[in-house]
Amino acid sequence: MSNRTLAIIKPDAVRKNLVGQIITKITEAGFKVKGIKMTRLSTDSAGGFYEVHKERAFYKELVEFMTSGPCVPIALEKENAVADFRKLIGATDPAQAEDGTIRKLFADSKAENAIHGSDSDENAAIEIAHFFTRKELLENYPS
Ligand code: CMP
Repeated sequence: MSNRTLAIIKPDAVRKNLVGQIITKITEAGFKVKGIKMTRLSTDSAGGFYEVHKERAFYKELVEFMTSGPCVPIALEKENAVADFRKLIGATDPAQAEDGTIRKLFADSKAENAIHGSDSDENAAIEIAHFFTRKELLENYPS
């Protein structure tokens, strides 16, 4: 079990000025912020990040949405981080998400669903490295 996961506050939530409220939910749930930045993804960067979905019908829409404005990637730490964070954000489709979850509270649709969370420990490591340099991680995760 890893203690790290990657969150991305997506462009819809940034546009709606929800960054502060979402970070409060995350830290109130016991996650520690170990790295954070605001950035606008290029098409190449977003396409690479979502490479696993390349063959899906929604891939083009997903990349266009993720490049439509700034997003806020956050490297998080907590025991059982991946599973606990996915519980906190709720189902991909906010209509299916449990009450109190971040997507239920703040997301509009399956495509514009406010927040991303890594789906495995392996992907968490890859996704954190997508946004944070080795130097930033060494500074933020002292051994
Ligand atoms: P995320 O957790 O970032 O991982 C993949 C993303 O693809 C997902 O959140 C959704 O935003 C998006 N996605 C999944 N299914 C659909 C869909 N049917 N239509 C549009 N976007 C989708």
